[in-house]
Amino acid sequence: MSSIKVAILGFGTVGEGIYRILNERKEDIQQETGHTIDIVSILVRDTSKERLATPETKFTDDVQEILSNPAIDVIFEAIVGEEPAFRYLTEAIDKGIHVITANKTMFAKRGQELARHAESRDVQARYEATTAGGVPIIRTITSLLPADRVRRIRGILNGTSNFILTKMREEEVSFEVALKEAQALGYAEADPTDDIGGKDAFRKLMILSGLAFGSQPDWQDVPIVGIDEVTIEGVKDAAAGNLRYRHVADIIVDDSGMLSGSVGPVLIGADHPLYSVDGVDNAIIVDTDHLGSLTLIGPGAGMYPTGSAMVGDFLQIIGKRQAVVVTS
Ligand code: NAP
Ligand code: HSE
Repeated sequence: MSSIKVAILGFGTVGEGIYRILNERKEDIQQETGHTIDIVSILVRDTSKERLATPETKFTDDVQEILSNPAIDVIFEAIVGEEPAFRYLTEAIDKGIHVITANKTMFAKRGQELARHAESRDVQARYEATTAGGVPIIRTITSLLPADRVRRIRGILNGTSNFILTKMREEEVSFEVALKEAQALGYAEADPTDDIGGKDAFRKLMILSGLAFGSQPDWQDVPIVGIDEVTIEGVKDAAAGNLRYRHVADIIVDDSGMLSGSVGPVLIGADHPLYSVDGVDNAIIVDTDHLGSLTLIGPGAGMYPTGSAMVGDFLQIIGKRQAVVVTS
């Protein structure tokens, strides 16, 4: 039995989720894969903060302690922003370390570059958690692509926005109160401006575009509107007319390969597939040539859904133990 050595960059909502799941599932993982998992180091900004106890795992604020450790096999990245995350992961890949990221700000902009770099070094760069939290949309589109052609992707890609809109409608609480709750539950970013302003959903849409269409539209051509202009009165009026606000990100490709995207709140009726998607859930509708229309729904943010998406990536990298074939 071999030991897989991992490091986690970031120990906020997501980093802690990864740590908890790897520990809680330790025995199952060992049985499934034949490997023991050793969480060697965790990178944070401030090592003096009070945190969950992590016996046998060292906190550090020096990334070189991790990157220069030749024993590390896999790095989970759950820090914030394009840099230094891109630089850290590039260096990890250079050293032959597999990387798994939740960082959509970095991946929307530099993901294709990072993926190419990983391929050139024969390591894996996985990013399921960047888009729609626990919903396995990256894996789903990846597995569809060889045999089908994606035409359009649309859906709810920001859990915080959907949570706020749902709270406003169901409990008639103000935008501000609902946002505070989303922050307390770990759904919102440390700075929630991009959640409520639509940029977070936009970045996820660009990640999906890169995957499904092999390219992204010019970012400045995609109109981005957030939910910050939606008022409690507007939500109530809509509900009175059997309509609901949903924050929808949408990208479509035409026959010439031209991409058009948009991100913003829309009013939808009860016959729409996004009508009943409430709370922190995300939903993605994928239209393809052969499959028709496929909808995936599930929790789009939070410690366990996001951590679970990353551990799912990890298990795909380290692989399952070969099944024993019993012949009679
Ligand atoms: P968070 O709660 O704010 O935690 C961020 C962690 O990263 C903290 O532990 C922080 O250290 C550390 N960190 C930040 N910048 C760093 C740097 N330059 N060097 C070293 N450590 C650094 O954030 P989060 O919600 O866990 O999100 C982490 C990442 O996952 C973000 O990119 C986010 O967009 C993405 N994401 C989040 C969710 C979610 O539901 N929250 C879902 C999907 C993806 P300190 O603790 O010392 O401050
Ligand atoms: N802040 C993000 C959201 C986290 O609310 O959807 C998941 O990416």
